Amino acid sequence: MFRAIKRIGVLTGGGDAPGLNAVIRAVVRTAHSAGIACVGLEDSFDGLVHPEKTRPLILEDVRGIHRLGGTILGTTNRGNPFAYPQANGEPPVDYSERCARNFRSLGLDALVVIGGDGTLAIAHELRQRGVPSVGVPKTIDNDIAGTTMTFGFDSAVAFATLAIDRLHTSAHAHHRIMVVEVMGRYTGWIALQSGIAGGADVTLIPEIPFDLKKIAAHVLQREGFGARFSVVVAAEGAYPVGGERSVRMAGRPDMVERLGGIGARVATELESMTGKEARSTVLGHLQRGGMPTSYDRLLATRFGSYAVHALQRGETNVMVALDTPDRIMTVPLDEVVHKVRTVPLDSELIQTARSLGMVLGD
Ligand code: F6P
Repeated sequence: MFRAIKRIGVLTGGGDAPGLNAVIRAVVRTAHSAGIACVGLEDSFDGLVHPEKTRPLILEDVRGIHRLGGTILGTTNRGNPFAYPQANGEPPVDYSERCARNFRSLGLDALVVIGGDGTLAIAHELRQRGVPSVGVPKTIDNDIAGTTMTFGFDSAVAFATLAIDRLHTSAHAHHRIMVVEVMGRYTGWIALQSGIAGGADVTLIPEIPFDLKKIAAHVLQREGFGARFSVVVAAEGAYPVGGERSVRMAGRPDMVERLGGIGARVATELESMTGKEARSTVLGHLQRGGMPTSYDRLLATRFGSYAVHALQRGETNVMVALDTPDRIMTVPLDEVVHKVRTVPLDSELIQTARSLGMVLGD
């Protein structure tokens, strides 16, 4: 039976993304207006595993934080309570029952879980232990199913575009190939949007395995008509036809694999295939830090506020989402977790890139 919500826990999980603090602020302020108390859980679900890692969140705690990067609650992409890592190489332990007990002893009625697919999947599973929640979709990769936009993505694209602009002038001046590696583990949303916005000549995305011969031919063709430089944007998850993704550290049960290095690989190959000097730059975590754009602050704020209203209406085990045209709604977590929203190959975005003469490596 539906029970009025009096006290909610808030946590941020997975990799940080610009806008996390704006969501926390919106949750705390909306809850305050509704007479609901908020408890901050530190370092993702660690706050439920170790209840001493919790603190009340009041208006003073969130004043002015909407413009700050990072998260005042801390985050981690380890510490899954169903397989909690142990010291000294001991096997992971299932702490989910302990989390449920602590959830009750903290007097919580529900959680607002701000995170990517991994974090939302944990929230979904904790439901079976009697811990209800509403999810808020976060990732700079913009690859969560069920929403057309995650917060954090716009800030990452804005930063990557700025970097491409700067590398463009340097490429032009030195008549070089500049390869820019951006984030995007499974999807090419950041690469494609920043590539188009920044006017890249080549964009490589995980959805389209690339052929280096075609990229080299394009670089030389540009040379032929006097454009003696080329800018290549590569998502970290991009890979050649018949080849492998660039994995720097293999995944483990408590940690997803770490990617990186495709930009350097492409630069080295292109240098030898074209005889042109090539350099690579990895934007890495610069894309995740710093102030959120106004778009991300607004989306994060709308998501946070909507999450509290959803709980007030008795909705749980759902994720807030952005629908088109510009409407916030909820979707069942069931329909969201363990899925990846890739760039559709027949999308207008891909068509636009091709129409502009951008080479996608196929
Ligand atoms: O999922 C978001 C993301 O930014 C990916 O694009 C990237 O592969 C990953 O996080 C990096 O995570 P970490 O901070 O653990 O290296």
